[in-house]
Amino acid sequence: MMRNMKVTYLGHAGFVVECAGTLLIMDPWLGRNGAFDRAWFQFPRNHHLLDELLTKIAGARHVGLYISHEHEDHFCRDTLETLSRHSPTVIIPRYRGKDFVDRFRMLGYLEIREIPDGEASRFFDLDVRIFIDEAGINRDSAILVTAADGRKFLNFNDCKIFDRCPQLHAQYAPFDVFACQYTGATMHPICYEYDSNTYRSVSRKKRQAKFFGVKTAIERLQPAVYVPSAGPAAFLDPQLFHLNFEADSVFPRSWEFKTYLEQHRCQARVLQLPPGGWLDVQSDIQQGGPRFDLDSERLHSYLIDYQAEFISAPASQNRSFDAEPLRHRLVEHLQRKLDVYAEFGAPLKMRSNIYFAFEELPDFLKVDFSECRVRIVDRIDEAAYYLHRTALKQLQKVIAGEMDWEAYFLTFRFRNRREPDEYDSGINLFLFAELEAYRFGLEQLIRFRDGSERITVTLAGCGTKYEINRLCPHQGGDLHYALLEGNTLICPRHYWRFDLANGGKCTANDDSIDAVRLDEFVED
Ligand code: FES
Repeated sequence: MMRNMKVTYLGHAGFVVECAGTLLIMDPWLGRNGAFDRAWFQFPRNHHLLDELLTKIAGARHVGLYISHEHEDHFCRDTLETLSRHSPTVIIPRYRGKDFVDRFRMLGYLEIREIPDGEASRFFDLDVRIFIDEAGINRDSAILVTAADGRKFLNFNDCKIFDRCPQLHAQYAPFDVFACQYTGATMHPICYEYDSNTYRSVSRKKRQAKFFGVKTAIERLQPAVYVPSAGPAAFLDPQLFHLNFEADSVFPRSWEFKTYLEQHRCQARVLQLPPGGWLDVQSDIQQGGPRFDLDSERLHSYLIDYQAEFISAPASQNRSFDAEPLRHRLVEHLQRKLDVYAEFGAPLKMRSNIYFAFEELPDFLKVDFSECRVRIVDRIDEAAYYLHRTALKQLQKVIAGEMDWEAYFLTFRFRNRREPDEYDSGINLFLFAELEAYRFGLEQLIRFRDGSERITVTLAGCGTKYEINRLCPHQGGDLHYALLEGNTLICPRHYWRFDLANGGKCTANDDSIDAVRLDEFVED
């Protein structure tokens, strides 16, 4: 029986930690139906590992299952249905509300342990702590697992608690293995209507910002080994297949990030694990199992073969429906959200209205925030707007309550346009949040923007001091742990940049941290 901690990679954000007779499975995405209406598939392929996982389970004394959050590439219903037959103990973050727990109950799980943020929980041969990010617009968690001999595995998956790295290091270092997402995973810019130069430039900036942020996290945490994980999916749908190969993409492959880290002299040992690869975690960490053998040259033929085996039509395209009644239900649904928005009023002024355009119908659906009304209009009659073009058939599952809005926006089968081309948290929240979560999201957004907590930052070298809002207006990142580059302050969570010399205005949109210059100190 393995006495050292052994960490086996299951592909994407999935791992299994073994120690003595205890097994802790994390985010296993092993089903053959992909995720988000078959828009995403595991990369590299890992489906063969389900049988191996079941063999491990059969040989273990205690089996735990940690799921970080509900996104389908982490909460894989097919895999979880299979695992539920073996009755593992579910170990999950204690999110606000009960909906996350209810998902497991509906799958037949009986023993469910919800762990509050940062609290220690013993699971037989392992100590477990979960760190929660629940900013309102989305939610996620990271996990720290400690074996009896003190060896530690810190798995951020795609949880952006980068602002907590200094604290985590102070409290729990040294870390033996650190795993973290290094890629983008949102609809921007890939679903936005840009000309090719703008698209490439936006992609490049986002990719560089992501690389920089994860490199900074690695430097702050100083793990012995970094494992790239939760990387980009394989997009096998012919409509999305090109996303696998774009230059300067927001979906870089692990070998590209490894090269970036080497070029930027990152000290951590970077180990790319293929699905099934494992680490024996001791003072000198040993790697075993299959070797990682993919690279840019092999990528195309690999994905062609993968596509040939796995592709079939998304479920949304096989349903028949009537466009007008479906749109009517959508209007009712959006109006309910607008009614919640109306309760909040002025503190959350939206920068533009949202329009929906559907392939099946000639006119637009307008979400009018100033009148708090959803209505049908024949044109867009204002200079500032957010336009979402889609097919109603893609929205059927959402309107039927079978798919979350967030999951729908990860199908990538639509186009967006915004004038001006600026991010607005209020719009993203309205689009992504389920009705129940929308109120909480609005409360959070108001809190992030209200500036009630102020801190002082000091520029290196010149010593100039600025007073700023402590919370980032995007999703509440703690700017006490921000990075400074000249007059630019960078939020550690998603790397928004704020110009201190320009009142703390964000360099990419209209948000601000209300920077006020306090003094100037010139060193001798
Ligand atoms: S919280 Fe997202 S950039 Fe600050």
